[in-house]
Amino acid sequence: MAKERIVSQSAQASEPEGDLDPITLEIRPRLMREYIGQRALVERLSIALDAARKRGETMEHVLLHGPPGLGKTTLAHVIAAEMGSKAFVTSGPALTKASDLVGTLTKMEERDVLFIDEIHRLPAAVEEYIYPAMEDRKIDFTLDNGMHARVVTIALKPFTLIGATTRAGMLTNALRSRFGIAHHLEFYEHEDLVAILSRAAGILSMRSVAADAFDAIAARARGTPRIALRLLRRVRDYADVRSGGRADAQTVANALRLEGIDDRGLEDLDRKYMRAIADVYGGGPVGLEAIAATIAEDAGTLEDVVEPYLLQIGFLARTRLGRKLTKAGADSIGFALPTQSQGDGLF
Ligand code: ADE
Repeated sequence: MAKERIVSQSAQASEPEGDLDPITLEIRPRLMREYIGQRALVERLSIALDAARKRGETMEHVLLHGPPGLGKTTLAHVIAAEMGSKAFVTSGPALTKASDLVGTLTKMEERDVLFIDEIHRLPAAVEEYIYPAMEDRKIDFTLDNGMHARVVTIALKPFTLIGATTRAGMLTNALRSRFGIAHHLEFYEHEDLVAILSRAAGILSMRSVAADAFDAIAARARGTPRIALRLLRRVRDYADVRSGGRADAQTVANALRLEGIDDRGLEDLDRKYMRAIADVYGGGPVGLEAIAATIAEDAGTLEDVVEPYLLQIGFLARTRLGRKLTKAGADSIGFALPTQSQGDGLF
C-alpha cells in the first residue's frame, strides 16, 4: 500500500469532518469577512445572507461544486455562523436510508444548515425525500408496508441545504434545479494562498517565517487551501526540529522534498499517473479506467484529486479518445511524446 497521500482528499467519505483536527478547526475562517479568495462566490453568498437576514428569512439552498479542499465544508460552517445557527454535517454515502435523513432534518431548528458532502452519492431512495424537504419543508414518510402502510407527513422547520460535490455532472437535474445558488469553486490564486498561509501561521504562533517561505508553500499547494495548510504544518515540524523554528524558502523546499513533493506540488501519485500514461500507453490517449487499473488506484480518486490540477497546469489533456500527456507534462517526467499523437482534437 502506498504511503499516506499528504495532499489527498479525506479518506473517510462518510465523514466530511474526518480530517478536521483541532488545528484545522482553529485555522478555519468563521465569518464571511475572514474568508480569503473565491471573491465572486463570497459576494453572491454575502448578498443572499444579508437579504435573508434583512427579511428575517432562511438562507437559500446552495450547491457548491469543484475539486476537494477548496472550502466547501468551511463555507457551510461560515453560512451557519452568519445566520446565527448550527451546521449539521453529513455526506451522501452516509445517508443510506431515508430514516437517516429524516432523523437529522427533524432535529434541526429554524435556519440551521444541513451540509451534505458528496451529494452526488446520495442514494436515489433518499434523494426522493430531499425534494419536498427542500421545497415545501415537509417529508412524507411511509410507515410500515403492505396492508398496514400509512403515510405520515412531517413538517420541518425552515432550513438551508448546502450540497457539495466534486462531480456536478453526476447530479440529477431534479436535484440541481432545486438549489437557489449553484457555484463552481475555482483553484485559489497564489496571492490568496499566501494570505491564507500567513493568517494561519499567525494563529499557529509561527513567528519566524520569512515571506518567501509562504510563497514557496503556496507554489506547491496546487491552488488548494487544504493542501497549503497541511504543507505549512509539515514545514512547521521540520523548522521546529531542524532550524530552531525559522523557515524560509529553502527550509520549505527541504521539508517538502522529504515528503516527495516537487517544486510544483506534484507528488508520488501524480508522477505515477503520468508515468503510466507515458510508459504503458505511449503518452495516450487512454481511458481513465485503464490508467486506474494499471496503477491500482481508484478511478474516482484520480478524477477528483489528481487530474484537475494536472489539467489546470497544462500537463494533461482530455481528448475525445481519452487522457493524454501534453508536451509540458511529458517533459516534466523526461518522456518524449511520439509525434503522431500530437494532433488529437480536444473536447
Ligand atoms: N483557511 C482555509 N481556507 C481559508 C480561506 N479561504 N480563507 C481564510 N482562511 C482559510
